[in-house]
Order: sequence, then C-alpha cells, then structure tokens
Amino acid sequence: MISRARETLETFHIRTYGCQMNVHDSDKLANLLYHSGLEAAPGPDQADVLVINTCSIRDKAENQLYSDLGALRDWKEAAPARVIGVGGCVAQQVGDSLLKRFPHLDFVFGTHNLRQVPSMLQAALAGQRASETGESRSLERFDMPELHPGMRAQGDGRAFVTVMEGCDMFCSFCIVPRTRGREISRPAAMILEEARSLAASGVREITLLGQTVNAYGRHAERRGRGTESGTMAFASLLAELDAVPGLERIRYTSPHPIFFDEALIRAHAELEHLCPHVHLPLQSGSNSVLEAMRRRYSREEYLDITRALRQAVPDLAITTDLIVGFPGETDSDFSDTLDLVRQVGFVDSFSFKYSPRPETAAIELPNAADSSEAQSRLEALQVLQRELTLEHHRSRVGQRVEVLIQGESRRGKGQLCGRDPHHRLVNLAPGESGAAPAARAGDIKTVDLVEATPHSLIGVLAPGEAQAESVLQVGSLALEV
Ligand code: SAH
Ligand code: SF4
Ligand code: F3S
Repeated sequence: MISRARETLETFHIRTYGCQMNVHDSDKLANLLYHSGLEAAPGPDQADVLVINTCSIRDKAENQLYSDLGALRDWKEAAPARVIGVGGCVAQQVGDSLLKRFPHLDFVFGTHNLRQVPSMLQAALAGQRASETGESRSLERFDMPELHPGMRAQGDGRAFVTVMEGCDMFCSFCIVPRTRGREISRPAAMILEEARSLAASGVREITLLGQTVNAYGRHAERRGRGTESGTMAFASLLAELDAVPGLERIRYTSPHPIFFDEALIRAHAELEHLCPHVHLPLQSGSNSVLEAMRRRYSREEYLDITRALRQAVPDLAITTDLIVGFPGETDSDFSDTLDLVRQVGFVDSFSFKYSPRPETAAIELPNAADSSEAQSRLEALQVLQRELTLEHHRSRVGQRVEVLIQGESRRGKGQLCGRDPHHRLVNLAPGESGAAPAARAGDIKTVDLVEATPHSLIGVLAPGEAQAESVLQVGSLALEV
C-alpha cells in the first residue's frame, strides 16, 4: 500500500493501447504496483489509480489519449484523491506538456521510466505532479522484481520476454525510433534466466519481443563485441531457448526482413519448439515505395526470404503489416502490393492507411495520397486478405493440432478459444451435451479442426481429451496460486 498520513492508494487499473511491447510494459508496471502493495481493480470505476499506456504509431492512436483524458475529468472529480498517470509512446513524444494541457493529470512517464512510477505515485499523494521521460542507454531499466503472486494468479501459460528494445532503422514513416529510443539488447544469460523461471512457473509459450527482434545484438556482434555485451546471434539465442525444459512454444515479433539471415531460416527447420509462424512486416510491394519508406529491401529480396522459409518449413504461416496511401503511391505501386500479397499468400495481415507523424522524414514528402483513394485501396487489400485467410483456414480443416487454451471465446459464454502453433485462433465448439469443453487457460489440448470461418477455425477436443483434464493440470500451474 502506498500511503501518507490519511490517504492511501489501494487499487489500480491500466488501460493499454498499441503493440505487444506496450502490453508487456503494462504487465511490468502492474507487477511493480503489486510489489508496492496495490492490487488490480476490475475496472476504472473501482480504481484509485488509473494509468493509460499510450501508442503513437498513427494520429488516431495519439488522439485516443486526448479524448480519454477529456473523459476522465469526471472520473477524477468523483473522488479527487484519485490519481491519473500517462505513460508509453505518446508520453515519450510530448512529455510534460501533457501536464500543462490536462490539469487533472498527475504524472507522465516515458518508455524508459517504468521503474519510477511507484515513487511518482508517492509524490502524487503528497500533491506533487511529475514528469519523467529521460532516455536511458543502460540495461538497468530491465531490472524488474520477480513476478508477484498476484500477477502469477492471472497467468494463462503464455508470456512475453523482451530481448531488445528501441529502433535504429528510422523508416521514413515511423515514429518508433523517437518514442522507444536507441536499440539496446539484453544479455543472453538474462533472457535465458527469465525464460527458465517462466517455464518453471508453468509458462508453456514465450514470445520474444523487440522492435526489430532479429536485429538482436547486432551492434555488438558487428563490432566483434558479442562476448562483452553477452549477446549472440539471434538464431543462437533461439537454439538456447529451444533447450529450456518445459517450454513448448517459442515465437518472436517483429523481425525485419534485412536481418533475416540463413541461420534464422535454418533455425525454423531445425528447432523443435520454434512455431511454424513468422510475422514479417512488408509495408509495400512496390520497390519505389519501399525505397521512399527507407525499408532497405526490395520486393524480390522479400520474396526470396519467404521462399527460403517455405523450403525450410513447408506449412509455415506468414503474416504481415502493410501501409497504403504512402505519399507518391500510384495505382501501379498499389497493384504491385496486391500482386505480392497474392504471391506470398499471407495467412493474415494488418493493413493501415498511412498517417503522417511528427519528426519523421516522410512528413516532408510531396504527393500526399487522396484520403478516399487510400480508403478504397485499404478496402481492396482487406477484401483480398479475407479471401486468402479463408482459403488458408479451409486448407486446415481435417487437421489435428495442439491448441494452447487462452480463455473464453468471443463466440459465447463458457466457450473456449486458443491458438494453434501457426497462431491461428481456434474456437472450441461445445460438446454434444452443449457443455463447454473441459479445459482451462494454459492447458495445451489436442484438437480436431472441423470448420473454417473468415476469422478463426472451429475445433473439437480430440477423443480422449475431454476426460483428460486432471492429467493436464501442469498446463494450468500458472493459475493455481
Ligand atoms: N518494427 C516493425 C513495425 C512496428 S510498427 C517493423 O519494422 O515492421 C507496426 C506497424 O504499424 C508497422 O509495421 C506499419 O505497418 C504500421 N505503421 C507504422 N507507422 C505508421 C504510419 N505512420 N502510418 C500508418 N501505419 C504505420
Ligand atoms: Fe518503425 Fe521501421 Fe523501426 Fe519498424 S523498423 S519500428 S517500422 S522505424
Ligand atoms: Fe505504438 Fe509505441 Fe508500440 S508507438 S506500436 S506502442 S512501440
């Protein structure tokens, strides 16, 4: 409990926007707050402290913060002892000007300042407003306390592990190098220790995180200083993790095509626990747009990587990110994108309309796209993607797969869902009696895929699995605190 003479802060709620790195930061922050004696509230109404962890990738994401903060005036007025904090990429980008603009905001913390939050809360109780957005180049920011039992109780068999953070690529459209700072890689020993301890606590699947995750250790490696920094080639790190007892699945996101080397492709062929899925952002299928984006690869090079990957793992699922309406993008550039999307046969993609971001190189570019043109390109791309996704799902019907159960499905009360090794969403159909299948978050179950829908696969527990719950308890250890 954080307290002073008469007031205490007992409960918190964190609202998270953005990518997995932000989701993971929110988990780290929740863990710090548990260690400070606070507990998670079911929602903002029951919370004394509300933290918004922001994303700045597109202007819409940034504006979400301003509308949230506007709406929170009433929340704060309802109980003036309440505290509001803002962190993440918008906080890093705009800093303490947020305090001036929103008088009911108590503190602002940047992407390198998570560990300062408990002391900022203490200061807020004393009536002080604070902003900490200093960029750190040291590894200290990765020093986090052990997982608190309160956090462990919420486990679902999956965990993120940061291997590197920051980005030195400076793609012309992207604000991330400004909000996440310079690239820094954690020593492999630290990463392995974290993975072992997660596995020992019941985690079955880890996802390695980094803005360009496969650039892990590259600056040190290039200078021959891998031993000094304790890093190694990304593929070697994967091999070490593959041997960690108890880990069933290893994923990583997001790799950058230019760091996709032969060793990494070989790792996909050789490592038992590396999942048959790669999320490899493409952005555009046109060479001239890729150049203007400063992506540093061509469509041909991208295709070479996906071909080599498919040779290594024939049923590999490849997903991607795409941007339409980049300045100067012509009809023919856009048809190059459609063409490449078809050729690669992406199983899924996230596609976005280009959004100009402050302090990025592309903001200076002429020939901004017409917004309705960009919209119709986005729609055409999404129509194509829906066809490709459905085609993939149909090809999977009849297969038997292992599903890591995640929790309740959106389809209905009591129904469960999870992910297969290819990262496809699998909804478990209720049994014949109409009852939900016997499984819990964190269990790995054998499932027969019986139906394809545009967004997911539908599966039934393989014969024998429905009764197997007691045998599979090990998968739910993380839940049993
Ligand atoms: N590090 C990853 C991308 C992280 S950002 C990579 O190198 O690919 C996630 C996605 O947001 C990007 O892949 C891109 O598709 C999209 N994005 C980034 N900046 C954007 C912008 N200014 N407008 C629209 N989409 C953007
Ligand atoms: Fe942004 Fe490019 Fe870095 Fe990805 S690689 S985070 S798109 S600058
Ligand atoms: Fe958004 Fe920051 Fe992630 S800008 S996408 S939360 S790195």
